[in-house]
Amino acid sequence: MRKFLLTTAAVFGLTAMAHADEVEVLHWWTSGGEAAALNVLKKNLESQGITWKDMPVAGGGGDAAMTALRARVTAGNPPTAVQALGFDITDWAKQGVVGDLTEVATREGWDKVVPAALQNFSKYDGKWIAAPVNVHSTNWVWINKAALDAAGGKAPTSWDELVAVLDKMKANGLTPVAHGGQAWQEATIFDGVVLSLGADFYKSAFIDLDPKALDSDKMVEAFDRMAKLRSYVDDNFSGRDWNLASAMVIEGKAGMQFMGDWAKGEFLKAGKVPGKDFVCIRFPGTQGAVTFNSDQFMMFKVGDASQKAQLQMASDIESPAFQSAFNVVKGSVPARTDVPNDAFDDCGKKGMADLADASKNNLLFGSMAHGHAAPAAIKNALYDVVTKHFNGEMDSKAAAKALAEAVAAAKG
Ligand code: BGC
Repeated sequence: MRKFLLTTAAVFGLTAMAHADEVEVLHWWTSGGEAAALNVLKKNLESQGITWKDMPVAGGGGDAAMTALRARVTAGNPPTAVQALGFDITDWAKQGVVGDLTEVATREGWDKVVPAALQNFSKYDGKWIAAPVNVHSTNWVWINKAALDAAGGKAPTSWDELVAVLDKMKANGLTPVAHGGQAWQEATIFDGVVLSLGADFYKSAFIDLDPKALDSDKMVEAFDRMAKLRSYVDDNFSGRDWNLASAMVIEGKAGMQFMGDWAKGEFLKAGKVPGKDFVCIRFPGTQGAVTFNSDQFMMFKVGDASQKAQLQMASDIESPAFQSAFNVVKGSVPARTDVPNDAFDDCGKKGMADLADASKNNLLFGSMAHGHAAPAAIKNALYDVVTKHFNGEMDSKAAAKALAEAVAAAKG
């Protein structure tokens, strides 16, 4: 009997140890470029003796991942670490289910190097609850260089110039805009379009949620611009994944894609070089301003055994060397301000400089499409209206009115 107890204890001990050195990671990084970046994180952890248990849930913007997370938390079995965005992190923190990273954050001085715009989401109630991996931004355009050259060679800097280039690409027999018809992708374009009508307008509509900005002539114009862009997509756009739209630009079948800088990860994975094979510009009319989103790893309360691995993972993520290695592959820029830009390509260097300038000039805004402008209920209400309008179910005037109403209803 005694022997049995000892053996059992030993087995349990071993199990506990295995858990202590394991992280189960829920994420939506499933495209080629995303998987390459994820691998940098995975390899880094494995080199510290931490086992990686993968829980991928595909779907840009992370809605499907958040649904999967809800099911796991409800079942009382949350994953150890979860990729999450902005207000979703705050929403989970409010439920009291997230872990506390303050010990490691304090030891490593995160307060001094992580920008305040990210800390707003990484901290709750004075405690660090998430480790930011990167800063992405949504107001980018990815253009096939040969297609641009054939269309006159000048990257557009205003709405009118954009339309002129798109018309030329069409005349040259290309699909001008590579797009995947999914609500979050349409909302991603909408970030850039709304910002192109003025930084103040973006702020009052999306950050302040001012009904007068949401149902305004400017918002009607924003929807008109969406309708115009809709006229440049191919017939098979519906339901297409974002990375397949990137592939159309990479392969020269389409002229450009309006997408966050995770798209750059796809170009790099395909061996393409910025400036030579593709061109990255800010959505015409939004130069100087940045709509950002930051992927953060939120740790769930899973008992003391796993906390060691969680803290190790958080510490690894915030190391300057990792921030450089990971973001070079992912297409994003570092989540800390003290990482050198040497290893980054021209688009990455531009991303870092744009972020610093936008922050200095008060032109840095959370992305509505990617959960950094308003909580999920409001974001989802916007998704619905933007998608319906994009698919011709309502005109621009009706869409602006519906947007104001949907946001008001979601605000409760
Ligand atoms: C995330 C990116 C991701 C993209 C597409 C965004 O919400 O922030 O990391 O690559 O979705 O999946």
